[in-house]
Amino acid sequence: MQEDIKVNGHKKTVKVWCDGCYDMVHFGHANSLRQAKALGDYLVVGVHTDEEISKHKGPPVFNEEERYKMVRAIKWVDEVVEAAPYVTTLETMDTYECDFCVHGDDITMTADGVDTYHQVKAAKRYKEVQRTAGVSTTDLVGRMLLLTRNHFRQGQYEYSVDSDHSSSMGLDSSARSPWTGCSQFLPTTQKIIQFSDGRPPLPTDRVVYVAGAFDLFHVGHLDFLEKARRLGDYLIVGLHTDPTVNRYKGSNYPIMNLHERVLSVLACRYVSEVVIGAPYSVTKDLMEHFGVHAVAHGSTPVAPDEDGRDPFLYPKAIGKFISVESGNDMTTEKIVERIIRNRLEFEARNLKKEKKEMDLIRAIEAQKSGSCKGDVLKMSA
Ligand code: CTP
Ligand code: C5P
Repeated sequence: MQEDIKVNGHKKTVKVWCDGCYDMVHFGHANSLRQAKALGDYLVVGVHTDEEISKHKGPPVFNEEERYKMVRAIKWVDEVVEAAPYVTTLETMDTYECDFCVHGDDITMTADGVDTYHQVKAAKRYKEVQRTAGVSTTDLVGRMLLLTRNHFRQGQYEYSVDSDHSSSMGLDSSARSPWTGCSQFLPTTQKIIQFSDGRPPLPTDRVVYVAGAFDLFHVGHLDFLEKARRLGDYLIVGLHTDPTVNRYKGSNYPIMNLHERVLSVLACRYVSEVVIGAPYSVTKDLMEHFGVHAVAHGSTPVAPDEDGRDPFLYPKAIGKFISVESGNDMTTEKIVERIIRNRLEFEARNLKKEKKEMDLIRAIEAQKSGSCKGDVLKMSA
């Protein structure tokens, strides 16, 4: 609930601060920013540099320019502060006139095990929102490293990890951190409603339609959507089903299942509406149903439909197809390649992060049972 702070009888604009790495931005990040924005009027998001992240956590998958851009595109964000310090200081909060800082209900520590929010917590300028279970950068990197296809199954959703991967990730749930361990994301209609604008197009709106996998939503998608949106007033994104994406991408794609991809795309400020499981070919029916004025596609290759035909045959035939140059060569496959190339580094990073969290949980449990001696909890609030 948003708080009304009054200054001389007038409602003051409540400015909220969030910060983080925002690496491989996913709908968990977006959901935390959505919740943070709801606590105030104006949301400022601080994003750490590559250098800071490498020092405290391990190398990020995306560089800082890419991460700044991704956070700016999340529809609840009003301002991005580049190169925000890893430990949130009161000075930073004051510089940006933020009333309080919001973070998910997990613990973030520096390389030395110090709670990065200890200053704002002590100053009572800290609030927590619920972390979205079942998705994290660590989890996504894990999925790519495991090359598991068990996070989606044809027609049904299944999130467990293959038993033959137990050696690298550990299947014993008691040995997994509740924060970044690969738990289950449970998609609900409520979450979709929270992410959606819920605004139908105006009769005067020019409706643009695009379709694709939008797997591991990235800067290439973003640049494309920004340009596609400029072609009209209302942008509809058709998301292909998991079996369809798997048919044309092969291997273990998509990395994110349809529900996850829906939320990632809905969080983008350029997107007005999403079709959950769009037909691969853009048909006359579809275009008439949504009142589509233009269909756009980026510079990436287009695989034929199952019958061998071009999926954009109809919009091309009626002169409503527009080719958009995103100017960005990022692809989902390139992200996976980056991860695989740095496999050992990322594996070590994931294990280190989870170990730190597990150590903290054990320390909290030990303290609760009264067996804790000394200052094991120096990092907790
Ligand atoms: N966050 C969240 N739900 C998730 C993942 C992140 O609410 N599933 C929140 C974090 O609690 C934090 C913000 O997103 O408030 C930024 O998180 P970040 O620093 O990028 O770290 P994580 O995504 O948690 O990193 P990792 O995936 O490596 O655990
Ligand atoms: O590959 P995918 O189906 O996820 O792409 C969705 C849309 O984004 C397509 O129109 C594709 O051409 C576009 N895109 C782009 N530039 C990129 C990556 C994707 O224009 N670097």
